Formats: sequence, C-alpha cells, structure tokens
Amino acid sequence: MVVVTMESNGRTITNRGIQAELRGRGSGTTATAGRIEEELLQAERRYRSLFDHVPVGLYRTTPDGRILDANPALIQMFGYPDRESFLAEGVADFYVDPEERKRGQEILEREGVMRNFEVRCRCYDGTIIWVKDSARAVRDDSGRVIYYEGVTEDITERKRAEEQMKRATEAQRSLALKVLDAQEQERLHIARELHDALGQLLTALKMEGEWIAHHADDPPEVRRIAEDLCTHLDEAMTLVKRISYGLRPSVLDDLGIGPALEALVAEMDRRSAIRCEAAIEDLSERIPPETATVLYRIAQEALTNVLRHSQARRACVSLVARAREVILKIEDDGCGIPEERLEDPTSLGLASMRERAHLLEGELVIASRAGQGTTVTARISFELPPARFGPRRLG
Ligand SMILES: Nc1ncnc2c1ncn2[C@@H]1O[C@H](COP(=O)(O)OP(=O)(O)OP(=O)(O)O)[C@@H](O)[C@H]1O
Ligand SMILES: [Mg+2]
Repeated sequence: MVVVTMESNGRTITNRGIQAELRGRGSGTTATAGRIEEELLQAERRYRSLFDHVPVGLYRTTPDGRILDANPALIQMFGYPDRESFLAEGVADFYVDPEERKRGQEILEREGVMRNFEVRCRCYDGTIIWVKDSARAVRDDSGRVIYYEGVTEDITERKRAEEQMKRATEAQRSLALKVLDAQEQERLHIARELHDALGQLLTALKMEGEWIAHHADDPPEVRRIAEDLCTHLDEAMTLVKRISYGLRPSVLDDLGIGPALEALVAEMDRRSAIRCEAAIEDLSERIPPETATVLYRIAQEALTNVLRHSQARRACVSLVARAREVILKIEDDGCGIPEERLEDPTSLGLASMRERAHLLEGELVIASRAGQGTTVTARISFELPPARFGPRRLG
C-alpha cells in the first residue's frame, strides 16, 4: 500500500509504504530503486500541488491547539500575510467563542469525525467570518489522538444571505400581522357603529312608526303604510345585527372561542340543509385572544366553503387540546376539493386559512379526495410568540 505522509513542517513528504518496499527488495537493482523513487517524488509533487492549490482551506492541528500545517487557501481566508505568522497562532485564538472549539473537539474525540461544523472565527485584521469545518481525528497505534486534519470553507456570504432572508421573512410576517390586526380593529369598529348607532336609530324610527300606526285612523292607508314601515324597520334591524355579528361576533370577545364556534355551527345548521355538528372542548380560558380570532376566522372560511361548494350532507367542527397545541377540524362528507384548486394560488380562501395559521407559527392541512369529503385541520401551539394582534386591545 502507498501511504503519503507530510511532516509537521509541511514541506517534507515521505512515503513509508514505498520505503518499506525498497528495504524489502534489498537485492533489487539500482534501476528499479531509481524508478520507485521517481514515482515517490511524483506522488509527493501531486500531493503538494493539490494541497497548495485546492480552493478550500486545509489544515492539521494538534489537540492542544497548535497549528501543524495550513494550505495557502486557509491562510488567505484568514487574511494572514504569510504562513509563518499563521502557524504561530494558537487554534483557540481563531474562535469568536472558545466554547465552540471545545464542542468541535468533543465531537472529534467521541466520533472520530466532525462534519459541517459552522462556527464564527476571527481573521488577522479582526474581521469576523463564518466558516464550515469538517475534520477527522488521526490516532496513533495506542489510540491516542495525535492530530486533527480537516477542511475549512468560508460561508460568510451564505450566512449573510440567510440572515437577510430571515429578516425579510420576519418583516413580512410582522407586516401581515399588522394588516390582520388593522382588519380586525376595523371590523370591530364597523360592527359597533352598525350595532350601536344605526341599531339605535332604527329602534327610534320603529317606535315612531308604531306611534303613527297606533294613532292614524284616517285615511286608512296611513296606518297600513306605517305598519309596513315598522315591518321594514324590523327587517333592517335584523339585517344590521346579522352584518354586525358577521363582522366580529360579540360572543367571541364576550365568551371566547368555544361558544363562538358553537354559535357559528348552529347558525349554519339553521340556515342550510347541511346537518352541522360541533364537538368543542371548553378551552376558552387557555386560548389567547389572537389564537381565538385566527381559529374563528379559519372555521368561518372553511364552513362558508362547505356551504358554497361541498354539496355535503353533514359537517362537523371540533376543537380539542393536546399537551402543547389546540387542534381545530372542519370536516364534511361532500364532493371534495378538485386537486387543481388545492394548490391554486388564486384559491384565496384556502390561502388565507393557511396564512392565518402560519402567522401564529401553526400549520394548516387540507385533506381532500374527489367524492370523499374534505377535512381542514389547523394546529396552533399554546406557547405563542408575544401577542401582536387580536382583540386584546379591542376592549
Ligand atoms: N369543502 C369544500 N368542498 C368542495 N370544494 C371545496 C371546498 N372548499 C373549497 N372548495 C373548492 O376550492 C376552491 C377554492 O376555495 P377558496 O375558499 O379558496 O375560494 P372560493 O371559496 O371559491 O372563493 P373565496 O373564498 O375567495 O370567496 C373553491 O372554489 C371550491 O372549488
Ligand atoms: Mg372560500
């Protein structure tokens, strides 16, 4: 076997396998020995060329933190003026957090190899870079680690891009939360204006209409018109209540998600030919207002879809708690969602349900097969990030 080994000064390379071979062939001709030595030299040159020119950092270091060798790419990565100054450093000095080196060393001692270890390091001029390190521990015959050898890659650009992406996603999320918040506030505001201001005005008008109907005997049309007026005002009041309730049901703020869902299901059962049931655990105390709003809006959209598209005979809404999360399910036994509509970006109702769940770091799964009904399942953790929207401030 041919074993190429580089000495600790990084310059001399010997080939013990070939030397042993040469010794074993003590009686061999000088020509053969010359050829083997030439092969050895060529192997050394190839190895050295690879070490010197490969565009990733290569190194050998000792467990006590000395640098035995480093290739030019590594020295350049850390911005050192020359090889000598680089080798004079202690390995630990490169780490921004010295604990990271210990962690890497533990992996090497325990497993013999360490892969894709991402860590922050300090360059010659103090700049901080991110590197990805993969290494192995080389042991002697007694199993003691004599050195580590590994590959280091500069991943600063990638890390920067990831960080930017994370910040952009976070900013997008917080904007979406603000939009939802504003929408909920606006809905509540309109609901209250409708209910209180318009509702009271209609009540006053109706009382006046009733007075006219009661006192007007002549001509008889006046009484009839006044009675019609009262009937229309009754209808207008019912309509205002319905619109106001649809915008933001007071039961959600007053009694919580459980009663609000039960009322939603009861209303749908009453209004449609679909038999609707609710199986709701009493969780109102445990569910923060922003989660309650999200769950309610998801149930509202999913049930509206059942009503409009499913041709179902039955539907069921359930709300249960697991150790860490609350699970909302809306099931129907209807025609199922056409596959192409499931992933269609213009399916805004479906997208809005997903988006609302994601905003609270939850997930929403829609399971549907042609002719086999649809199940919408939302899971949201009880341990939420700090509240950023919802009716808490809506008083
Ligand atoms: N429960 C369901 N059963 C059968 N088909 C459904 C069901 N829910 C959704 N769909 C189908 O998926 C499509 C997309 O639903 P989505 O809620 O995104 O849009 P929409 O209800 O048509 O319109 P919008 O919700 O924006 O008013 C629907 O048009 C319908 O074809
Ligand atoms: Mg819809």
